Amino acid sequence: MSKAHKIAVIGGDGTGPEVVREAIKVLKAASTRYGFTLALQDFDFGGERFLRTGEVLPASAVSDLSAFDAILLGAIGHPDVKPGILEKGILLKLRFDLDQYINLRPIKLFPGVETPIKNKGPADIDYVVVRENTGDLYTGAGGFSMKGTPHEVAMQTAVYTRFQVDRCLRYAFEYARKRGKKKTLALCGKTNVLTFVYDLWERAFHEMGDKEFPDIKREYYHVDATCMWMVKNPEWFDVIVTGNMFGDIITDLGAMTQGGMGIAAGGNINPEGVSMFEPIGGSAPKYTGKNVINPLAAICAGGMLLDTLGEATAAAAVERAVMDVTANKLKSLAAGQMGFSTTEVGDLVAARV
Ligand code: IPM
Ligand code: MN
Repeated sequence: MSKAHKIAVIGGDGTGPEVVREAIKVLKAASTRYGFTLALQDFDFGGERFLRTGEVLPASAVSDLSAFDAILLGAIGHPDVKPGILEKGILLKLRFDLDQYINLRPIKLFPGVETPIKNKGPADIDYVVVRENTGDLYTGAGGFSMKGTPHEVAMQTAVYTRFQVDRCLRYAFEYARKRGKKKTLALCGKTNVLTFVYDLWERAFHEMGDKEFPDIKREYYHVDATCMWMVKNPEWFDVIVTGNMFGDIITDLGAMTQGGMGIAAGGNINPEGVSMFEPIGGSAPKYTGKNVINPLAAICAGGMLLDTLGEATAAAAVERAVMDVTANKLKSLAAGQMGFSTTEVGDLVAARV
């Protein structure tokens, strides 16, 4: 009997709904081809809903979403809503409340895609960043005092518990083992300055590595050096694990090296719960409704979603289909310059799945 997967769909703002539509087209093609069924349900969370109702997320959102096998998210961010409200109230809230403690971001250059790094190709740019997704500067610890005076103080504190660090490291070690490429895990930190938080990370990293993962080679890079090597020698990397803030920054750098926001996807993963997959680019308001935005990042997010649901064969087929399209069809990944419309790119991938 085929499995039925319950997927919550949050198209969100701007071009989010357009790219998610193409991702669903591809997921449906995969479900027909690989013998599983999808039960999709739409949620209207985003800027439009907030402007209409004054509510960022309904009180029932988290418990409603908990009943699904996975979530597919388009984009959150609206030009008429002050920055921070939707990001914090929707995206970060869901990550925290659904305890999606891993942000998995593959940095993979597909064939035919142009990278700004000279003399590097798909064989050189193929690694994965495991970004911790619940702690660090993202917890909201801090505040102001004497706000608005010349002596104003603003503080924002990086917070990590041993528990958060350990569960993230364990996921990263296991990922490096399962991936089986170079069996190398690199910790990206800043032990020379952040002598509390990254001291904890480094001790936990080596303790766990010694005890549980002797087969995985360990490396350490400061975050600034990581940025340097991601550009100069990306082929060194296999799996990188890091905290939330550094992970946010280095994965945007990584995304540019793999061809930009048109292709970069990520998963907010709770290995024991409900995970949420998204193209990591924004809502691109100026392209909204024009049928020109590149849906491949959302399609790749859909592929990652399938992998998490245990549909590994279908996930691999989606990736192969995307690669065939980048290698043989698209002129560019940039919006309006692909040589095809958003819906046509979805058709091309779906046909190959
Ligand atoms: C990302 C984004 C978010 C983050 C923002 C929108 C809150 O930049 O997913 O990387 O900082 O995590
Ligand atoms: Mn980011």
